[in-house]
Amino acid sequence: MNHLKKMSEFNHADLLVIRKNLVHWYDACHRHLPWRENADPYRIWVSEVMLQQTRVKTAVPYFLAFVEAFPTLEDLAKADLEQVLKLWEGLGYYARARNLHKAACRVVSDLHGRIPSRFSDFTALPGVGDYIASAVLSMAFGQAHAVVDANVKRVLARLLCLDVPVNLSSAHRQFQTIADSLLDRNDPGRFNQAVMELGALVCTPAVPACSVCPIADNCCALSAAQIQTFPLRLKTKKIPCHRISTGIVIKNGKLLVTRRKLSGLLGGLWEFPGGKRLKGETARAACIREIKEETGLDVSISSFLTRIKHAYTHFKIEMDVFYCDYMSGEVTLNGPIDYQWISLPEIQRFAFPKANLKFIPLIDQTLNARKVS
Ligand code: ADE
Repeated sequence: MNHLKKMSEFNHADLLVIRKNLVHWYDACHRHLPWRENADPYRIWVSEVMLQQTRVKTAVPYFLAFVEAFPTLEDLAKADLEQVLKLWEGLGYYARARNLHKAACRVVSDLHGRIPSRFSDFTALPGVGDYIASAVLSMAFGQAHAVVDANVKRVLARLLCLDVPVNLSSAHRQFQTIADSLLDRNDPGRFNQAVMELGALVCTPAVPACSVCPIADNCCALSAAQIQTFPLRLKTKKIPCHRISTGIVIKNGKLLVTRRKLSGLLGGLWEFPGGKRLKGETARAACIREIKEETGLDVSISSFLTRIKHAYTHFKIEMDVFYCDYMSGEVTLNGPIDYQWISLPEIQRFAFPKANLKFIPLIDQTLNARKVS
């Protein structure tokens, strides 16, 4: 079924009914979320950056802590990146935090502290793409820009039986065109929220609640008994698993942590040193070699702590974590941009990747048993 043909089957009266029913439903049924309390563009911006890759339930406590630490854009611009990353710790996709911080600094230094209200000016800021700009400008300033995220794509794909896969990046423009034509220009912010909320609460991926859907009467997939067919998805490749060795290097009761370079995966976060195992290499040998390469230190392995499994978007890791004793050498960094020898309680001050957070509580429990401070 061709979506453009299908779209043209929506006459003006259908569009009005869909908009009215959606917005009525939203008014009655939406969740009371902290970023919906007012139309402050800064708060909406922060929330949408968090929500781009993170579920609402997970994002709420992070959002509350973030806006408490930085109530205004100026506060965020004044903060250290490390402080920002600490508040983002565990949320993942840390480039979001780095870009948000950089953008806040730019708004303060170049734009008199005012968040741009023109789409092209806003999208010129780091980390602000069409989605963020549409969300903030519609919700804070009432501008007519339709948002397209995964929830919106699913709703549109079912509503219109769209025959384009939702995970095909070249199809994004088609979804945007359709969302633009469906947008209620009288209250675009509320309408955008309504479509996203419908996707989150009713038109869910596995078992949508069609019996309570406010636009069920207009749903092409429902009337064709094809709800499970839509949205279409391209099969994705199986994701690879990297085997990693990590060392908790102990010297005079202090632990060695290193900081990752600012660009790239987990950029700017602190971690325990280590890296990928080579083919045929044992986990222990990889641990010793990686620490030598990254820090210049010679260490020996004293014991195995744990194996951690963690999934990123495009790969998984299986990480063996060892206690290591410092043997010799001065720290000479190759890769990391900083290092510190820290006591166990000081760990709290640093922002770590989630895979490290999974074993840090175990260090707490086992170090004392090893009689190291
Ligand atoms: N997902 C993305 N943006 C959202 C919002 N403003 N409220 C709830 N869920 C969302």
